[in-house]
Amino acid sequence: MDEQTTAMPRIGDSAPEFTASTTQGRINFPGDYKGKWIVLFSHPADFTPVCTSEFITFGSLQKEFERLNCQLVGLSIDGLSSHIAWLHTIRERIDWNGHKHVDVQFPLIDDITMNVAKKYGMIQPGESETKAVRAVFFIDPKGIIRTIVYYPLALGRNFDELLRILTGLQTIDAFGVALPADWRPGREVIVPAPTTMKALEERLADRTIHRHDWFFSTRELAKEEVEKKLGKPKA
Ligand code: BEZ
Repeated sequence: MDEQTTAMPRIGDSAPEFTASTTQGRINFPGDYKGKWIVLFSHPADFTPVCTSEFITFGSLQKEFERLNCQLVGLSIDGLSSHIAWLHTIRERIDWNGHKHVDVQFPLIDDITMNVAKKYGMIQPGESETKAVRAVFFIDPKGIIRTIVYYPLALGRNFDELLRILTGLQTIDAFGVALPADWRPGREVIVPAPTTMKALEERLADRTIHRHDWFFSTRELAKEEVEKKLGKPKA
């Protein structure tokens, strides 16, 4: 195992830069997507069943990610002709889970050299030396990695959770709050602990805050308020 294979960017790091060929032309990453959120994700291989189910799901959610000002970018250690043939097959032939004719319009990186996969720690040799695991990097508009999720080869991703992570990160930034376990828009949010005596007194007098203990306070944040900032999901 070389050092490059085991290098892993971490939460809080700047997203490693690269240029690559994709199904939508050459990209300069992350520079081409300045001002947007990015979900960079890897899949093990084209023309495999779990990956196909995931691409159909990513493809059917393209508008939802766009609404959240988020660019999807996929990657596998396959070449461009395989990617193009696979996306064509998905669009023309596959009918799965109520979705058919799914037209994947986001870029899918050709990483036959493993250059990008190695940079992003997507090759995890205990799982596979020749295929990327199912990694998902959430990168903010300043190019900082904010969340990383890894799944093994045989387990398809949970897309409710991927969208919850993106919505959650944007809510944290927009409202200066933290989010409790299983948070979803409309549920209470965590307000930061007071850091001065004056802030403590104000907190004690604030009837809109639910104090569970001195270090743990929550307040309501209406779903409509979140949607006003982040955009409303399609009904
Ligand atoms: C799949 O996508 O079905 C898959 C790919 C690589 C290993 C195992 C499953």
